[in-house]
Amino acid sequence: MTIDVVILAAGKGTRMRSDLPKVLHPIGGVPMLGRVIEAAQQLGDVKITVVIGHGAELVRERFASSDVQFVEQTEQLGTGHAVAQAIPNFRAGATVLVLYGDVPLVKTGTLQSLLSASDKGPALLSVEMANPAGYGRIVRDETGRVLAIVEEKDADADTLAIREVNTGILAAPGDLLANWLPELSNDNAQGEYYLTDVIERSVSEEIGVTGVLAGDPLEVAGVNSRAQQAQMERALQDSRALALMNAGVTLLDPNRIDIRGTLECDTDVAIDINCVFEGEVKLGAGVQVGPNCMLKNCVLAAGTVVEANSIIEDAVVGEACTVGPFARLRPGTELANGAKIGNFVETKKAKIGLGSKVNHLSYIGDAEVGEGVNIGAGTITCNYDGVNKSKTIIGDGAFIGSNSSLVAPVAIGTGATIGAGSTITREVSADELAVARGKQRNISGWQRPIKKS
Ligand code: UD1
Ligand code: CA
Repeated sequence: MTIDVVILAAGKGTRMRSDLPKVLHPIGGVPMLGRVIEAAQQLGDVKITVVIGHGAELVRERFASSDVQFVEQTEQLGTGHAVAQAIPNFRAGATVLVLYGDVPLVKTGTLQSLLSASDKGPALLSVEMANPAGYGRIVRDETGRVLAIVEEKDADADTLAIREVNTGILAAPGDLLANWLPELSNDNAQGEYYLTDVIERSVSEEIGVTGVLAGDPLEVAGVNSRAQQAQMERALQDSRALALMNAGVTLLDPNRIDIRGTLECDTDVAIDINCVFEGEVKLGAGVQVGPNCMLKNCVLAAGTVVEANSIIEDAVVGEACTVGPFARLRPGTELANGAKIGNFVETKKAKIGLGSKVNHLSYIGDAEVGEGVNIGAGTITCNYDGVNKSKTIIGDGAFIGSNSSLVAPVAIGTGATIGAGSTITREVSADELAVARGKQRNISGWQRPIKKS
């Protein structure tokens, strides 16, 4: 089956009250349109046309590297008119699948069922709603055959009582749509060219229509407002939280986790409240993440503990490490097994060796730290001279006294000791003690100044 997908994304999204086009607003960290494109791409070899209008340039830019084509609908004259803009992109004999850029949680499997029901004529995706207000109603005859979709604004009282509604998602042979769409009329309550009118047309030509009922209203729900966006976000997060718990992860409160990417967890991972995961995050067996942590594009090996209020980004953390509370591992941080990064410590492009400790109030950037190193409180690698970044290398077993400044480029040898409060500007050889601070003078009999009268 040749599948041409048309994604409608030209509408303004007035109720979002935003400068950003509606379809660029995210759900689970991904723009809504991106989710729809992804669901379509999972169908296999599809050709995707996105109909853009409001904010067209922004949408084009955002998806410039995606394998999609854009057609512009300069005036939003209705959903039928929108799909008609894509007719030149239809391939011979293709089945056309119409999706909405603001219906972000649609599942590929549902689209597959719709496509397989559409080989002869249109198949529409409908859903039962407790409150169908605002939606087009599906009108069926007494034998259950679909006769028409009637928009709310065109509906009489009997029709308004119907709870089966049109999701807007539809599949149909492309050549039928290419014939019918240019012949739509806009003689209706909204003065729009309704895509939904192809249903009646198909019935009148005795081609018929298949209705496919979506199981889950959430999957076909559209986003029109910030409140609906937030509802969708929570619904998506709920389902992710449930999937994690079903896979054996402890979530202290499944209502207080946000996964804006993918989170892969090994056995017996425990995640405390208010954690945010972005990009690709992998947590090894027994990893514990404390409350209020933010983890982005990182891998944490088995047994590592992240204490409260820590941030880890683009980092690789070995087994049985401790991070935090209040630690910040910035991009390029690599912790070997058993390393410990304590409170108010920032690391960047830093390799910290096996079992080494940076326990308090330090900045370690552009550094290679060996095994069994102890870095005292308040140690700073001075890696930036205002123009260039330079490296600090610290050998195995070195001991860096508190409040030291290591002025890079500089190397501290294996087993070397740095006296507290030193500013180190030259290499220190293995096992040496370096002390670089003002010598202490004690002045006895010192008189404090006295206030002048
Ligand atoms: C449409 C359906 C309705 C269905 C509902 C589901 C029609 C006539 N009605 O109504 O049966 O229950 O969706 O949400 O199809 N768009 C364009 N260009 C346009 C008009 C719309 O790109 O000229 C896009 C919008 O950006 C939006 C989508 O199409 O993403 C739906 O448009 P909207 O006007 O919201 O349709 P509804 O009136 O909700
Ligand atoms: Ca409308």
